[in-house]
Amino acid sequence: MATIARPVPIALRLQGKVALITGGASGIGEETAKTFVAHGAKVIIADIQDAAGEKLARELGGPDTARFIHCDVSQEEDVAAAVDLSVSAYGGLHVMFNNAGVLVPGCPLEETSMVEFDRSYGVLLKGAVMGVKHAARVMKPMQTGSIITTASVAAHIAGPSMAYTTLKHALLGLTRYAAWELRDFNIRANTISPGAICTPIMKDVPKFFSRANAGLRHFSRR
Ligand SMILES: NC(=O)c1ccc[n+]([C@@H]2O[C@H](COP(=O)([O-])OP(=O)(O)OC[C@H]3O[C@@H](n4cnc5c(N)ncnc54)[C@H](O)[C@@H]3O)[C@@H](O)[C@H]2O)c1
Repeated sequence: MATIARPVPIALRLQGKVALITGGASGIGEETAKTFVAHGAKVIIADIQDAAGEKLARELGGPDTARFIHCDVSQEEDVAAAVDLSVSAYGGLHVMFNNAGVLVPGCPLEETSMVEFDRSYGVLLKGAVMGVKHAARVMKPMQTGSIITTASVAAHIAGPSMAYTTLKHALLGLTRYAAWELRDFNIRANTISPGAICTPIMKDVPKFFSRANAGLRHFSRR
């Protein structure tokens, strides 16, 4: 008699998988950590918010299931250490979620602070580049993996600031390159582009939109 393959229950689709989530202590990252654990994954929560990250890791079952590591994604040694922790604690890295983000208030182009731009660059783009770099270091020998980077609707149209729009657009290039280079290693690279979600990063957005010239920044290229 033919046997019928039983589908893996939805709740266990990530069983045996290890995920590293940057910006995992809040918002989209926090909810992703909860969902991944509910689906059977072990997670590393990497963030600069130590208290929130530690608390979430405890809520998700503690060291057997979830660990927090202080990780400033703009610092390569922190990103490398987070990736290394996924290997030493849970034996590998199957999902790298480059999700940490900041949204520095926008201003007219001629008033751009390059100090503020560099801060955004360090988190939004360089942080993701280093996430891809160190994930590839571990995933290539494993010959498997999924790299997911949180872009934004502002990766496709003009968004709430020049820095945010520019750097989120750049994530598309990073991901296209990574998907191409890693194609023969069974490693996928994708972005997700959320619209507005009410998380702490959005707390100043209404101020941007109330500026007299805000509409100018919201033209699509089409
Ligand atoms: N909320 C939205 O409407 C929206 C829309 C599109 C894209 N996004 C993107 O989603 C991602 C998550 O944002 P969110 O909405 O969950 O906001 P959030 O503020 O709740 O989460 C951002 C997290 O990133 C962390 N973070 C900031 N700087 C960091 C650093 N240097 N190193 C490590 N972690 C750092 C914060 O501590 C925080 O936990 C961001 O990349 C954001 O740009 C959000």
